[in-house]
Amino acid sequence: ADDGYQLWLRYAPLDKAASARAGDIGSEVVTASRSPTAKITAEELTRGLSGLLAKKVASGDAIRSNGAVLFGTPKDSPSIAGLALPLERVGSDGFVIKSAVVKGKRVTVIAGNTDVGALHGAFAFLRLVQTGAALDALDVVEAPKVKLRMIDHWDNLDRTMERGFSGFSIFNWWELPGHVDPQLVDYARAEASLGINGIVLTNPSGLTTAVSLTEPWLKKAAALADLFRPYGIKIYLSARFSCPQELGGLKTGDPLDPQVRAWWKAKADEIYRIIPDFGGFLVKANSEGQPGPQDFGRSHADGANMMAEALAPHGGIVIWRAFVYSPKPEDRVKQAYNEFKPFDGQFADNVVIQVKNGPLDFQPREPFSPLFGGLEKTPAGIELQITKEYLGFEIHLVYLGTLWQEVLQSDTYAKGSGSTVAHAIDGSLFHNKLSLIAGASNVGTARNWSGSIFDQANWNAYGRLAWNPDADARAIAEDWVRMTFTSDPAFVKPVIDMMMQSRETAVDTMTPLGLAHQMATGHHYGPGPWIDNVGRPDWNPTYYNGADKSGIGFDRTPTGSNAVAQYHAPLAAIFADPNKTPEPLLLWFHHLPWDHKMVSGRTLWDELALHYARGVENVKAMQATWARMKPYVDAERWQITADFLAMQYDSAVEWRDASIAYFQSLSGRPLPHGVPAPA
Ligand code: GCU
Repeated sequence: ADDGYQLWLRYAPLDKAASARAGDIGSEVVTASRSPTAKITAEELTRGLSGLLAKKVASGDAIRSNGAVLFGTPKDSPSIAGLALPLERVGSDGFVIKSAVVKGKRVTVIAGNTDVGALHGAFAFLRLVQTGAALDALDVVEAPKVKLRMIDHWDNLDRTMERGFSGFSIFNWWELPGHVDPQLVDYARAEASLGINGIVLTNPSGLTTAVSLTEPWLKKAAALADLFRPYGIKIYLSARFSCPQELGGLKTGDPLDPQVRAWWKAKADEIYRIIPDFGGFLVKANSEGQPGPQDFGRSHADGANMMAEALAPHGGIVIWRAFVYSPKPEDRVKQAYNEFKPFDGQFADNVVIQVKNGPLDFQPREPFSPLFGGLEKTPAGIELQITKEYLGFEIHLVYLGTLWQEVLQSDTYAKGSGSTVAHAIDGSLFHNKLSLIAGASNVGTARNWSGSIFDQANWNAYGRLAWNPDADARAIAEDWVRMTFTSDPAFVKPVIDMMMQSRETAVDTMTPLGLAHQMATGHHYGPGPWIDNVGRPDWNPTYYNGADKSGIGFDRTPTGSNAVAQYHAPLAAIFADPNKTPEPLLLWFHHLPWDHKMVSGRTLWDELALHYARGVENVKAMQATWARMKPYVDAERWQITADFLAMQYDSAVEWRDASIAYFQSLSGRPLPHGVPAPA
């Protein structure tokens, strides 16, 4: 049986053709480096090559045979230093992989400026072997485009995970720091294989984030920092703005109060005594009821800069979230921009603003947040949600690589055309010193880590895009399929095709044509387009769909909330015109009559109904594809996926019938041909 525990690091024996292509490459692993990181690298290479080549591969400190894999840094290895590799291009985290001749032997060299760079290179090399690439003339030069490649754990410290659908937290706080679960070594390997270099251990929402900054908890975090350090990963913690009051007994948390500032400085000093290479704070302030500087009449900049001042002497940074909104008459999707744009340029050097990909909240589809391209003098990092809060939890098969690529390749036009979100967040557009990408983790105690096998692909794709935001979602999916399952073409192509359309299926199922936030209250799994009684208008699905007898959609043009004005030209004008707005975003920006004519020539009502119906049809097609894949997958991983697809089918039917029934009660129009009447 195979429970999926090994993720994409399976190292199963290569098929005959790939193994013949590999020839004698991988005959032995050689390094002159002695650091803990180098030891990990040697172990990973010998483990990986032994598995893939189905023979015992040994490691040593001298090249003995053709096909040796030599890894390390020019500092430790005169052989690597002698090769004149272009290491000046790869920074501290990147690597060079090159086929070369050293001491008369054919070798594959994996070199970094640091041992961590070489570790990343080792994982990249193993990926090439696993995916059946030609290995005899390698010449790879890679450096990550984004500096801070973060995984955020929304860990509540009681083993529960905010929006976690994969069991409990993998961090057993009760046993830490005395016992560090060896499973976390496998976790660190998985993150390092993607080049992740920062992990936020704690949920930025809620009271527990204060507790995590007390000494006993800092010691637990320190034990984790020790574990992750050789993998090139730093530890960060969420910081609750009211800590000076809650932990320090102060009467205020006012960021301009000298006592408050002194409290944070002392706290930072304490943290760095316990965790010398601590990364910094993640902060959710004045959002969803969390305390923040506005409670004291101060701005986000005042708050962030106070913490930044405390961390700066130690080299720490503040990651300040822009996910802010409160119940006020102003359109919720405009609030973050309005709260941050006026302070652009006023944040300290060691502050990054972390912006969710869309202006609302991790919906199946949203336009990109106008803060990308909007913040020009302050680094804006992007926050993605790997855990699928609004996309069917672990049950629905939804590959998010395409969603993220769509956002990252969106043009902000901040500096004319070509000013993509990817280039805004990687720092190249505005020449920022700091750049950041963060993913809210989907990892838990489930044996398969992510709840479902296909959600492992989202973790993987997130990491690959964090390394290179311009990477291609299909190519990433292909690597993942080959590493996770098999390179058999009878499996690879249909499964990638299934993954590539899966996100559009989620959109059709839940929120077609630019609708958003139609999920039932609280849990966000099933349909709730009719819900209007949550108590806060900005949490009601009816607020977002605006459906009535006259039509459907949210008017964000100048006749409505004018959110379009937050985008640069020409987008503002494109989004303001229903005939120019791309149809997938139509109802996000416009309230339109049910009979509005669509590109297809059909009415908006007919088109909407057909999208819901297509959602169901496409899940059925995924089930059929997966049924055909049974011969190529072990029974356990095949079954869980088949079971979940059956559950997804039921869910899609419910979404279709419930949404159509509700909207039809307003549109009063008959169903188009091909759409079954709601059960
Ligand atoms: C969403 C989600 C919350 C989460 C919040 C956040 O609103 O439903 O559970 O805390 O996002 O990102 O802070």
